[in-house]
Formats: sequence, C-alpha cells, structure tokens
Amino acid sequence: MKIIAAEHQGFCYGVKRAVAMAQECIGMEGTIHTLGPIIHNPQVVKRFSDKGIEVVNDLSFVDDESTVIIRSHGVGPDIYAKAQTKKLTVVDATCPHVKKAQQAAHELLQDGFAVVIVGEKHHPEVKSILEWSNNQGIVVETIQEAMHLPFMPKLGVVVQTTFSGEVFQTIVNVLQTKCNEFQIRRTICTATDLRQQSALNIAAKVDVMLVIGGKNSANTSRLAQLCHDAGSRVYHIETAAELRVEDFSGIETVGITAGASTPDWLIEEVYQKMQEFNQLLDNEVIKIEQGSI
Ligand code: F3S
Repeated sequence: MKIIAAEHQGFCYGVKRAVAMAQECIGMEGTIHTLGPIIHNPQVVKRFSDKGIEVVNDLSFVDDESTVIIRSHGVGPDIYAKAQTKKLTVVDATCPHVKKAQQAAHELLQDGFAVVIVGEKHHPEVKSILEWSNNQGIVVETIQEAMHLPFMPKLGVVVQTTFSGEVFQTIVNVLQTKCNEFQIRRTICTATDLRQQSALNIAAKVDVMLVIGGKNSANTSRLAQLCHDAGSRVYHIETAAELRVEDFSGIETVGITAGASTPDWLIEEVYQKMQEFNQLLDNEVIKIEQGSI
C-alpha cells in the first residue's frame, strides 16, 4: 500500500497558536476555562479537560478572578466587558486573521458604512464579527440573499476568514451594484483553501482517502465532502482506532489529509496504524510521496 500525504493538512496557524496558548495555562493557579471548546476536536478538548481546563459556554458559570481562554473564533465586545466586571484573566487566543475581520467591521461602521458580513450565519466567528459591528451588520451567505438587499449609499464588506473565495467574489459582484460607495476588506485566510486544494490534488489519484478530524469540525467534514464529490472512497475518522484492516485488503493507494483542527499526534497515530496494516497484509513498506506530516 502506498500512502500519499496531502501537502497542507492539520493545524492551521490560528489553531496551533490557540492550542499553544491554552497549553501554557496548564498548571496555572486558580480555575481555568475555555469559552466554548478550544477547537472542534474532541480528543484535544479531552486532553485539556484531563489537565483541569474545562469548557464553559457562558461566563456566568466561571468564578470571579479566575482565568478564561478565548478560542480562535473570537468573541464580541460584550464578553470582554463581562470578563472585566468579573475581574477575569483573559487569555485571548482569537486568531489574528479573525481579529482583523472584527476590527474591519467595527471601523466600517464608525466610518458610516452599512456593514455586510459575508459568511455562515451560525458560525461563531461570524457571530463575533457581527457583534463588533454593534449587531448592525447584515450577514449574507448566498448570492440570492445579496440580491435581495436594498440599495445603500455606503456599503462595506467583511468576509468570514474560512469562506470560499470563489463564492465571495460572486457575492461581491452583486453587492457592488447595491451602493454608491463601496469598500471591501478581504479577510479570507488561505489556510482552508490550501487544505482543500491539497486534498483534491491527491483524491483523484488514490483508491481510498482518509480524512482525519473531529466529526463536529466543519472544515474537516467539508474536506471529506469535497473528496467524496471528487469520486474518492472516503473514510472520515477521528482516531486510528476507527480503522479496520479488512477495509484495506486489495487497496494499492491511500491518501491522507486532516482538518485544520486536527493535531499532529492524531495524524501520526494513523500513519503508525497504516504501517501495522501493511505488515498484517504482507505488503511492501509504505512510501510517503507528497508533502510531509
Ligand atoms: Fe485563523 Fe485561518 Fe486558522 S483564520 S484559525 S489561520 S483557518
């Protein structure tokens, strides 16, 4: 069995940074919480929980003067105000790219623009950007929604960092016809696109694609869906324990990718398991061809 690793896979910059910041909190004095799961990966969340860092979904449940970690998706200004009232130590792991989008929404509003946020309505990052627009922004997810917007004299656009660049451009083309003055802040981050492109580059060449990452991770599920749409047989797994040797009998090539919230140690376990399968199936030694883990 030959293994082909996607060139770009696993933790993105913002997630790596958030996890490292949370790790630095281990052993600190007092109670420590993350506001929402630090990343959408159950195994990582459990590791932190085992070290005493638990998830809360509301600051009302944390003790005054304790520590709270804000995850990479970011939060609205209300949370910072509430944290100050409760005298919390805030470890702000908001991804700098998300911070930029939040600031852009805030600035556009201050400059008198109607703020349009292009993104998924229920995504925590989009909710946080909306809050930085004083909840006055309009969230638009589709071209149809953009077409239904009324005419506005000054219109400023911000975009969810993980939104598709292609869809964004088509929405922008519509929004430009809806105003006299137009400002655009291109806040898309390339990490998602790079992971998707790398996965698609190998999906067409292999018999089976393994997509590693949380079942609750939107970006991992999207990778699995894209590979599936490209015609691959896809196994979306969270851990190596889900792999079964019988599924690889007669398989010659396996592609591996992982979502932006999948840690290296989970990816490494999958490689090790595949090595074991190769021995069990009496195959030649695995050859890793592209990229690195
Ligand atoms: Fe940040 Fe981009 Fe990751 S916005 S959290 S580096 S996907």
